[in-house]
Amino acid sequence: MSYPFQIKSFDEYKSAYKKSVDDREGFWGEVGLSFSWRNKWDKVLDWNFTEPNIQWFINGKLNITENCIDRHLKDLGDKPAFIWEPNNPQDRVRIVTYNRLHKRACQFAQVLKNNGVKKGDRVCIYMGMVPELAYAILGCARIGAIHSVVFGGFSAQSIADRLEDAKAEYIVTCDGAYRGEKIIPLKDVIDDALVGNKTVKRVIVYTRTRMPVSMIKGRDVWWEDEMEHAETQVEKNNVVSFPAEEMDAEDPLFILYTSGSTGKPKGVVHTCAGYMVYTTYSFVNVFQYKPGQVHFCTADIGWITGHSYIVYGPLAAGATSLMFEGIPTWPDAGRFWDIVDKHKVDILYTAPTAIRSLMGFGLKPFEGKDLSSLKVLGTVGEPINEEAWHWYDEHVGKKKCPIVDTWWQTETGSILISNLAGITPAKPTFATLPLPGVQPVLVDENGVEVTGSPAGGNLCIKAPWPSIIRTTYGDHERCRQNYFSAYKNLYQTGDGALRDEEGNYRITGRVDDVLNVSGHRIGTAEVENAINMHSDVVESAVVGFPHEIKGQGIYAYVICQHMHGDDDSMRKNITQTVARIIGAIAKPDKIQFVKGLPKTRSGKIMRRILRKIAEGETDNLGDTTTLLDPAIVEEIKNGKV
Ligand code: WT7
Repeated sequence: MSYPFQIKSFDEYKSAYKKSVDDREGFWGEVGLSFSWRNKWDKVLDWNFTEPNIQWFINGKLNITENCIDRHLKDLGDKPAFIWEPNNPQDRVRIVTYNRLHKRACQFAQVLKNNGVKKGDRVCIYMGMVPELAYAILGCARIGAIHSVVFGGFSAQSIADRLEDAKAEYIVTCDGAYRGEKIIPLKDVIDDALVGNKTVKRVIVYTRTRMPVSMIKGRDVWWEDEMEHAETQVEKNNVVSFPAEEMDAEDPLFILYTSGSTGKPKGVVHTCAGYMVYTTYSFVNVFQYKPGQVHFCTADIGWITGHSYIVYGPLAAGATSLMFEGIPTWPDAGRFWDIVDKHKVDILYTAPTAIRSLMGFGLKPFEGKDLSSLKVLGTVGEPINEEAWHWYDEHVGKKKCPIVDTWWQTETGSILISNLAGITPAKPTFATLPLPGVQPVLVDENGVEVTGSPAGGNLCIKAPWPSIIRTTYGDHERCRQNYFSAYKNLYQTGDGALRDEEGNYRITGRVDDVLNVSGHRIGTAEVENAINMHSDVVESAVVGFPHEIKGQGIYAYVICQHMHGDDDSMRKNITQTVARIIGAIAKPDKIQFVKGLPKTRSGKIMRRILRKIAEGETDNLGDTTTLLDPAIVEEIKNGKV
């Protein structure tokens, strides 16, 4: 596999960038030639941000699995597509070659077909980090079904909401999942999600933990039985085949739900061709991937990072992607380093929160671990603080590995702002420069572009790149409203940023009511809705506060009606309610019971004040004279937890 579009020097970056802006269509048309198409496109791009209507590689026909698998079989058939490291280090590693991946994806596509799944149908996938999760994703893509992967940490209620929103009729899940010492009963959660559900026709269950599960006649089937049956259908005389569905460039590939400033998560829709082209382009360029290298992205496939940089990007590049089932701190805090040593990992891509949590264990976990295979390090998900950056550089990279700080979002599909490993300069705490094709701008509160540098403002993007969000599933107006309405002709990221004299960007965090907890996006309104579900709660307000490991923690101010029980048991009940409604990832770190909330005369909660109190900054609360009841602020200040 060679990558004609791989940038090899800072000068090449500059000229690629210039070309991408001067001749956007020419630039991406050329990159597009490195992929395999059933039919080439007629026109590279058509777009407007007002509707929005964004189309890339118009009338191009392809199937992404032919790009991720079939085209590699001749040269890379026996090479590992995935190396799978199990939760328990004593268990057997699984190596999935491209040949094997081809067979399994074809088999699973046949399973889907046998169960009535057709092109365009939505399939919800709720599984642990097992290779079968990748087979499920690729099986869907092969027959043109739209996958909607839901992270294993979400609750039954969250799954039910997502099933309903996507009108999904099919589910793929596991009996359970291993996570450190814990076993997560995934099928049980699905069963809870399906109480009262009338639309789901089939649940396919992969056996991972052999824990007891209830299998409902006529609805639930075992993965193993289905795959065995499909094997005889897709394999004749030792030749495996399952014809890939011919997809239009703009047919949806997947839905991935993400939180925003409203109470209800949005189903971000990505389409086949643009997502494939830009994800692969960014993978090869940011990490400077070289054939044969082992790429270890520690994210869960339930998030966009896993979609783009464990599955689609690496596979389309014919790479070897390491998939890890467990957690960084089990059996001990040296687990990542064991994995790097054991599998001779070249590229490690993780989150600042993981780095900060491992920093707390000191240097002992590194003893006896050989990290000399590492060549490139990456971070994603949240701003990285200076201390964590240097620790990563010194103790993991041994000051020999470039660190790429990659800024992007579920909606952007792939990395938009990042240095290119060893090619463009790094600057600690800066995501640095935009990738070719990406035109960031900073705008002030009035929507006026801030030119010159240094500067700060709301980060927006001027024109489309191939993996930009196309719509929010089932509600296009919501997509327009959310991302394209605040500023004319701009995609609004929701992040604030600074730009230095060299044009490097530093992301400062969200400018809306969205929190970033351990690199996971959580809407404050969503958490408030969940808290308010508790029978004794009258009202609540949720804000973020700086958290040493998580980046941001969740601080909830809660007004109760009667306060049944003591503060502590009430806190536990509220926490449990949030876990039930959203999932454990949204549990508040701190709950303060209050008699009232600071509101303006028009009834709006003054979050600015609540944020400052949660941050511990109680001296300078700004103007409180417009408050309905200024005395409440003193009371809240005194009761801070
Ligand atoms: C939000 C997107 C993109 C995959 C993981 C998160 C924050 C992401 C960085 C970074 C500073 C970052 C932003 C963004 N973010 N990467 N390198 N530096 N902040 O995906 O859940 O869609 O969240 O994560 O605030 O808007 P997501």
